Parts: sequence; C-alpha cells; structure tokens
Amino acid sequence: MARHTVVTMPGDGIGMIVLPEAVRVLEAVGFDAEYVHADIGWEFWRSEGNPLPDRTLALLDRHKLGLFGAITSKPKREALAELDPALRDKGLVYFSPIVAMRQRYNLDVCIRPCRSFGGNPLNFVRQTTDGGMDEPFVDVVIFRQNTEGLYCGLEWTDPPAQVRDALATHPKFAAFAGTPGPDLAISTRVFTRNACHRIVKRAFEYAREHGYRSVTVCEKPNVLRETSGMMEEEARRVKVDFPEIALWSTNIDAQMMWLTKNPEDYGVIVAGNMFGDIVSDAFAGLVGGLGFACSGNIGDDIAVFEPTHGSAPKYAALDPHIVNPIAMILSAAMLLDHVGESAKAERIRAAVTTVVSEGRVRTYDMLKIPGGPDAFRKGAATTEAVTDAIIAKL
Ligand code: NAI
Ligand code: MG
Repeated sequence: MARHTVVTMPGDGIGMIVLPEAVRVLEAVGFDAEYVHADIGWEFWRSEGNPLPDRTLALLDRHKLGLFGAITSKPKREALAELDPALRDKGLVYFSPIVAMRQRYNLDVCIRPCRSFGGNPLNFVRQTTDGGMDEPFVDVVIFRQNTEGLYCGLEWTDPPAQVRDALATHPKFAAFAGTPGPDLAISTRVFTRNACHRIVKRAFEYAREHGYRSVTVCEKPNVLRETSGMMEEEARRVKVDFPEIALWSTNIDAQMMWLTKNPEDYGVIVAGNMFGDIVSDAFAGLVGGLGFACSGNIGDDIAVFEPTHGSAPKYAALDPHIVNPIAMILSAAMLLDHVGESAKAERIRAAVTTVVSEGRVRTYDMLKIPGGPDAFRKGAATTEAVTDAIIAKL
C-alpha cells in the first residue's frame, strides 16, 4: 500500500488540464502515493446544486491531503440560470467551493511563495540610473489569513432590521442611516485574535526555518484600526520569541508601490485574507505571473494545494493544450514539503528552474505572445511538452 493518499480535485476548465500534469511529475519523482479523484466545481453546481459534494468532503476527511486545480465561479443570477431546472425552486444559492473548503476545514494558513526563476523572461526588471537594466531576485513568501476578514461571507444587501439597529449604535452609521435598505450593501471584515496569532506565528516559524531575516505585516492599521490593529498587536507579541527576525510593518497601498521599487528587500509577508490575496498576486506578477503562482491551504488536520490561477475558460477548450502547468506542479512540490518530502520537492523545483532557464520548451505566456491556437506556430510548447521537459530533468 502507498504511504500517502492524495485526493485529486481537478475542478473546472484548465484545472482539468494541469492537475494530471502535476500527478505525472509526482509519480516521476518517486512520491509513494496513490490518488483518488473527487468531484468539485461548476458541473456539480449545475447538476446537483452543490459544487462541493458530500462525497468529496468524505474523501478529504479520510485522506487529509488534497491537490486542487481550479473552479469556475459566476455571479448569483447567472449561477441560478445554469442550475438544472428541476433544482431551481429549491432555494439553492451558489457558493465558491474553495472558499467553503477553507472555512469548513479551517485551512486558515495560506502560503504563497513568489520566487524568481533565473532566466525567466517574465521576471521583473527595472531601469538603473545609468540607463541599464537590473533584475532583482525576488524571494518572498506570503502568509495569507485564509478564512476570515472581508472574505468571511458575512454580508448583506438590504440588511435585516436587527443588523441596521446594531450598526446604528456606532456613531459612524449616522452617515448611512438615511439610505434605503435595497441601496445599502455591507460586507463585514471580521478578525479574531486566535486566527491573527496563528497566521503570524506560522509566518515567524517559517522565516526561522528557512532563514528569512524579516517578517512584514502588510495591513492598513492607520485606517482599519480594529482589524489591522489586532493583526499588528499579535505580530508584536509573537515577535518576542523570534529575536533574530525583524518585524516590519507596511500599509497595503504603499506595499503595492514598493514591491516594484525594492522587491528584493522583503522576505516573509503576512496579511489578512483580502490584502494577502492582493499582495500575493502582485508579487506573483514579478516572478512570472499566474502560470507560476503556487499555494498551499493549511489547517491543523487537512491541507490542500492549488495554483492560484482560476479555470481560464477561454483556454480550456483548446486542443492541444496551451496553458502553463508550472503553477500546478510547484503546488504539488509544496504538498511534498508538507508531508516531509522536501528533497523530492527540491528536485522538482530544480528541474523547473533548469527548464525555465534553458528556454527551449516554453508555453505561450513565457514567450510573451497571445494565448490561442496560433501560439504553437509562433513556437509555444504544449502543456504536456513542458511537463515532459521537467520530468526529463528529474
Ligand atoms: P484565471 O486565473 O482563470 O485566468 C486569467 C488569465 O490568466 C487567463 O486568461 C490567462 O491569460 C492567464 N492564466 C491563468 N492561468 C494560466 C496558466 N496556467 N497558464 C497560462 N496562463 C494562465 O482568472 P479569471 O479569468 O479571472 O477567472 C476565470 C474563472 O476562474 C472565473 O470563473 C473565476 O471565478 C475562477 N477563479 C477560480 C480560482 C480558483 O479556483 N482558486 C481563482 C481565480 C479565479
Ligand atoms: Mg486571487
């Protein structure tokens, strides 16, 4: 029997294309695992009214380890319009299965490494004062609180009277008191001390374990005094146990500017759910974009690894496949780190580095050409060819 069982959830669109590529790499590197397929995504919303079926939860409960591709999400009305007519009057409401999974299993620590691969033509470059070019080496790991904050789902349009009344106890609500219910939308930013503490602690532990010299809390405490303030307070508390690691604090807006000025100055960055989402996409843009952005959603009991990109529907139907499998493959390497197989993970990352820097086999995004059937004529490699090249280097 294999030592590990991985629940594979390809999901929608290009998730179905890239996930099997990651499994091929895991097999090639000699990971002792078996794989069980689980249903997730749009198809299951349409046919069953549930994008995260109970049978998928049962598999995750049992095996604790997941690889996830991507899902398609659509706005409320469109979602209802695509639902099987037999289910339409049952009051079902579409929800994002990946957000639901993070909350259900308290996968509260999201890790998103953004590291430059040498020789990647998509790497960020900046102009030097003498007119030359300079390519800073980016090595940033974002720790995003994954279950709370503005994405916690506590929101209303036309909030019920009790909610309005409760808000009216705050002096700042006076400015909105005259707004009719249907014209009033509220999304709530909830932070708990426990979750702030956990994400900051994991960030510091990671910094220590991997030799980073700083942890930067990226929030907005001058405006969001309560929530961002709580994150900063916990960071100062945790820092006491990590004297060798500097604690820095940046505001999200300033951070978005600084990251193109001096990205090499940052190490571990920790942020709440939405700011972590934003800042991790921004850093990913410096190191190759969505085709390279990997992530792990980690709880005490269960962990699920996924590329940060979505289902890219416009590329899903193209055959041969054109999308970059590297984000998914690097997510699988993170899974290996998680189960204590870091040597294998490093071999995968080294193989990716070689393939990227040699530049012989590149998907359209690495060639900086438009994605589409024409891409192959212009020298782009298929998804499978990139995986093959990586496997050959293992
Ligand atoms: P997306 O990430 O699917 O695609 C945006 C663009 O990025 C693509 O058009 C393509 O140009 C590029 N891209 C993405 N992955 C790539 C890859 N592996 N190789 C090369 N290029 C790649 O985001 P979009 O278009 O905003 O959303 C499409 C669907 O995906 C939506 O339904 C959205 O809700 C969903 N989504 C799901 C996520 C998840 O499953 N975690 C995350 C983000 C979006
Ligand atoms: Mg995102």
